[in-house]
Amino acid sequence: MSLVTSASYVYAGTETGEILIYDLETYQFKESLPGHNGSIFSLLLTSCAATPTKPSHNLLVSAASDSLIKVWSLSTLSELYTIYSYYDIGDIFSLAWSQDYQTLYFGAQNASIQWIKLHGDATEAGTKQDPSGLPSVRFDKFFDSTGPGGKLSPQQHAIKLKRSSSSSRSSFTDLTKAGLRRESPGPFQTSGSPLVNERLLSSTENDGTNDSAVAVDGDVSSVFSFVNDSTDSFNANSNDSSLLEVLRSNIVRFAHNGYIHSMLVTKTVSTNNGLDVLVSGAGDGTVKIWNLNKGSTLHLLRSLELENSIMSMIRGTDSFLYCGLTNGQVVMYDIDTSQVLRVDTQESSDVMALCAVGESVFKGTAGLVQKWDPSKYCRSEWKAHNGLTLAMAFSSYKSNPVLISGGNDATIALWDINNTVKTASEIPSLGPLSISPPTATPNLTSSPSVAEPLTNNVVALDNDNMIQTLTEFVSYKTISGYDFRHWSDNRRCATYLRSLLNHFGASSQLLAVHPNGNPIVYGCFSGIDSGNNSKKSRILFYGHYDVITASRSDKWETDPFDLTAIDGYLYGRGVSDNKGPILAAIFAVAELFQSSKLQNDVVFLFEGEEECGSTGFSETILKNKELIGNIDWIILSNSYWLDDTTPCLNYGLRGIINACITVSSDKPDLHSGVHGGVHREPTVDMVNLLAKLTSDDGKILIPQFDDSVRPVDAEEDKLYEAITRTPGVLEDKETLMRKWRYPSMTIHGINASGPGNTTVIPASVSASISFRIVPDQDIEQIKKSVQDYLEGSFLKFRSSNKLSVNFSHEAEPWLGDPTNKPFQILRRALRNEWQVEPLFIREGGSIPVVRVLEKIFDAPAAQLPCGQASDHAHLDNERLRITNFFKTRNVFKQAFTELCKD
Ligand code: BES
Ligand code: MN
Repeated sequence: MSLVTSASYVYAGTETGEILIYDLETYQFKESLPGHNGSIFSLLLTSCAATPTKPSHNLLVSAASDSLIKVWSLSTLSELYTIYSYYDIGDIFSLAWSQDYQTLYFGAQNASIQWIKLHGDATEAGTKQDPSGLPSVRFDKFFDSTGPGGKLSPQQHAIKLKRSSSSSRSSFTDLTKAGLRRESPGPFQTSGSPLVNERLLSSTENDGTNDSAVAVDGDVSSVFSFVNDSTDSFNANSNDSSLLEVLRSNIVRFAHNGYIHSMLVTKTVSTNNGLDVLVSGAGDGTVKIWNLNKGSTLHLLRSLELENSIMSMIRGTDSFLYCGLTNGQVVMYDIDTSQVLRVDTQESSDVMALCAVGESVFKGTAGLVQKWDPSKYCRSEWKAHNGLTLAMAFSSYKSNPVLISGGNDATIALWDINNTVKTASEIPSLGPLSISPPTATPNLTSSPSVAEPLTNNVVALDNDNMIQTLTEFVSYKTISGYDFRHWSDNRRCATYLRSLLNHFGASSQLLAVHPNGNPIVYGCFSGIDSGNNSKKSRILFYGHYDVITASRSDKWETDPFDLTAIDGYLYGRGVSDNKGPILAAIFAVAELFQSSKLQNDVVFLFEGEEECGSTGFSETILKNKELIGNIDWIILSNSYWLDDTTPCLNYGLRGIINACITVSSDKPDLHSGVHGGVHREPTVDMVNLLAKLTSDDGKILIPQFDDSVRPVDAEEDKLYEAITRTPGVLEDKETLMRKWRYPSMTIHGINASGPGNTTVIPASVSASISFRIVPDQDIEQIKKSVQDYLEGSFLKFRSSNKLSVNFSHEAEPWLGDPTNKPFQILRRALRNEWQVEPLFIREGGSIPVVRVLEKIFDAPAAQLPCGQASDHAHLDNERLRITNFFKTRNVFKQAFTELCKD
């Protein structure tokens, strides 16, 4: 029913109440602890901290259907405590241990969560040691109520005997020595006096049915003397085992509306500033997260409603929590951002057990173990038991990953998973920065662990380290879009960035983006108080960690997620757009911060949805406006030079409007031979409609589309002249103006329904189009003219097909002020670094959040392009010149120093 492993042994809790111990090296049965009377639902290994009188020691804790918890010493295998509750709590299904609080939590059938402190040998003050309180000897409404005439039925006698025999037997280790085993008839039958226990029970009953009290047989009474005698004699007889009653204040009575099947103690985020929480999952289909940092009781932080009962839970890598449900689902939940990330909907029977090893999750259902690799979304499964897989544990015995499963076929199976899992050491870590990212590799002596607190040591911030960090940053496949296969990499990357910021001394946080977006990484480095606070500014640096998809087969010459240096360039997806520039900025600020030279506050915001339109960004930022604070300047570095030789500053971007046009018929896909010529075809309507958008020579025909575009004045014309005269710039004035200051339209693709072969008439067809827009064009007005024009044109077709136009995302154009302070500071810094005068340029691309941030914080933005024109952003073989990477860092270092308020 339950399994745990220590360094050399596996401990199995059985349905009959024994704890079986096997040697992991020899597979040999070592010992059986006659633990409980009833199924052992949960086992736990913990280590109790040292006290002045006792060194730290390892404990085994068991919880069972007899309403008891037993605590065993791992070294002597002797029973130290029997823990019970004053209340009738039914079966105890789950256990959790807080190492920090040295507290044991348990969840029971009556939906309560209770806890007890177990510190060294001194248990919580006021804890009772009263054997008459044991669940098995106290009055039970169901079993002990008398029938007519105040009599107990013969069955009740029998049941009472069984109940009391169990508690007594399991409390006395010497009974084992006397050879009493679960299959033996028990002490009462041997005594030949079935009434003996009746008297014992009646002494604790409160319904007054004492009339059948009988003298106790000598032999047996010595065994059961604790019931009548004082606590002292109980202790003497019980081989140093103490009986502990949970304090009545240590209980949340209706923690759930169902059996509490699973619990664990963890932190809300994987770095040191997360809250300590207890997570409980129950038959009522809710997962509750309880704050442990709030003193002596549990405070409910959050409750998550799932569709089915929760049978098992495990903490995975980073901030992921996996919940195994009835009907076979596994829900992946981010306890940092409170989002349900993914539901693994493969139907099977109840997920009774979950085990996380590195990034892989193993789930035990029916007789199977199913392996699930969330980032690759691949699975495999094998038959593990003839029956149900009820429990699983992981061991890295002699560095070999071994998965252990237990089933109701009464077998424990060991599986060599060496070739199937990435072990913790293979999961990308922060390498030479020596920050250990949290992994869920089960810790063999304690409950699932989280990362060690990071210390703010002065760390190596040299350029080699920056490249090494970029290698790790690039290795996360943070591919933009809503493909669930990339959610895990995106989140892990966000966590990575967050711990990096934290490690360098920033306060950091992940901001949830709703409904299902990748989180925004927030980090803040505080500038020193120099006594001249009026000059201190707060700078916001924005970047994005999501990237455009890439695969080795699309003309890439290197693995796009394995940073490769060739001839002065770093190749990899996202190096230029936007991972490299992000690191240049972080390293610049961290260096200033660690050498106590950072005068200004620098806030970093890194989003994971830029490449698909920054959905949810502005809502999240508005929600966290107070956290982010008042911002004086906004800096970004997400564009490129005009050529490969001249450093640039960017002060303008076009905006964007994306639309999806669909034409559909009310017929299904049809055979073109059988049906061709009868109906108007959606694809034909679509082609005709798209043709209305431009003239034959490509001019956009949408009415009023470019009416509001500003005319070019003499001054602007001169700017373009100057740029085109720069050696190395090959484009002429006209081309640059078309790219930067005039709007454009693109038809990205047309998709038809059906199998796509040459015999089918597609029933519907969609076209994806977008408009790049420029200052003074109004988004709403353009959307309206596009919609009206398409609908008006379509109407004239007199087609029976239906047209729909949907706008997906949009961004306002941006035009900064190249004469303002940030631009002038950046210009000087560029000149210092490159010994040339930078070009001030605009861009044809879009960054949706620039205007959003400017408006929310009422602060001007400035952009420092990092890479060269030949960087191939969004394309194959994306690259960044190492010189640009290093020099951009230096430029930022200077700019972040100088960018004070006046
Ligand atoms: N870095 C680009 C923005 C950019 C593109 C600047 C070209 C300069 C020249 C950014 O990451 C990007 O790709 N933006 C998208 C935004 C869109 C998906 C809303 C773009 O411009 O297509
Ligand atoms: Mn991009």
